[in-house]
Amino acid sequence: MKLLRVGIILGGMSSEKEVSLNSGRNVYDNLDGEKYEGIPIFMDSEGRLWIMPWQLVSQNTTTDISEHLERDARRISYEQLKDEIDFAFISLHGKYGDDGCIQGLLEILGIPYTGPGVLASALGMDKSAQQKILREAGINVPESMLFGEDEWLRDKNRVRKKIAEAFDIPFVVKPVREGSSMGVTIVRNADMLEDGMFGAFKLDKYVLVEEYLEGIEFSCIVLERESGPGILGVTEIHPQSDFYSYDDKYMPGRCSKFTPPRNIPADVVDRIKTDVIKAFETLGFRSYGRIDGFVMEDGRVLITDPNSSSGMAPSSFFFEQAAEAGMLPSMMISELIEASVRVHEEKRGPL
Ligand SMILES: Nc1ncnc2c1ncn2[C@@H]1O[C@H](COP(=O)(O)OP(=O)(O)OP(=O)(O)O)[C@@H](O)[C@H]1O
Ligand SMILES: [Mg+2]
Repeated sequence: MKLLRVGIILGGMSSEKEVSLNSGRNVYDNLDGEKYEGIPIFMDSEGRLWIMPWQLVSQNTTTDISEHLERDARRISYEQLKDEIDFAFISLHGKYGDDGCIQGLLEILGIPYTGPGVLASALGMDKSAQQKILREAGINVPESMLFGEDEWLRDKNRVRKKIAEAFDIPFVVKPVREGSSMGVTIVRNADMLEDGMFGAFKLDKYVLVEEYLEGIEFSCIVLERESGPGILGVTEIHPQSDFYSYDDKYMPGRCSKFTPPRNIPADVVDRIKTDVIKAFETLGFRSYGRIDGFVMEDGRVLITDPNSSSGMAPSSFFFEQAAEAGMLPSMMISELIEASVRVHEEKRGPL
């Protein structure tokens, strides 16, 4: 039987390239060799593609890999990609990776891929656009305001006043399109705003200011099966830091996670599942997604961060929830590839 050539695209041009390397390496290591031939493809910081030998995949950082590319890897053009692989497993995160950019390229090349198409990927990335659409569909989302860098620099006092009229302290400042908690600040006193805005504007021209949610954070992996999207599991998160920060997300043992939840009542867990599926469908997500939110003290469920992809390091929610559902990493990866292939076989025009 001919194996499906699965190109695992990792690295990339975003602030999350190291997270991407960890995800991609783990996918490569756990790919079912009876069904798939794994081909690691590195996207460098200029967006160029390189087919890597497996030895490069185990390098510690994307910088280490970059130093070896000229000597050990094979550079390919975008057009050549379709001669090299049958399917793209997108292990990229963040800008150009799960925001519709690489999806557009793969559509033009006619290569099926994991996750949703161009529009839904872009919506999964843009925290302002996604909130408008979810709110319209009757899903609870936080109150928020969007500010452009030009507006902030032109008249900071005016922006400060607008924020003060809308939000109590603490409130949250975040770049409108980022991941891994990059550029997120919980503003706990008025003096913190300046630094918070500066940090967020370093990553995007637009910043979202959001009400602070006091409650229990959760994360849900959704997997699209033949019968439709289903919840893999619900994980309750208790960060060690002020909030669920980059370090909490990726340093082992930094925060407590419970799958299934320990402190969320069963009827609320059911509502989480209903709202998460509704959010998945409303945004047009396909094959899989990771949707995060908060349960408030009064029992309300808010959706705060629908992601059109998921981290796939060994300790990620993706594999933790798979394990809870009785699936080994290789089984989970195979299911996702099968779901994605099916979705692309059924599409008419771009996904
Ligand atoms: N409105 C809020 N109230 C309280 N905490 C918040 C709020 N928004 C974000 N946070 C905290 O900041 C973290 C990162 O925010 P968010 O989920 O929006 O960012 P992200 O960078 O897209 O994360 P991910 O890597 O999960 O995609 C959250 O996990 C949560 O702990
Ligand atoms: Mg996110």
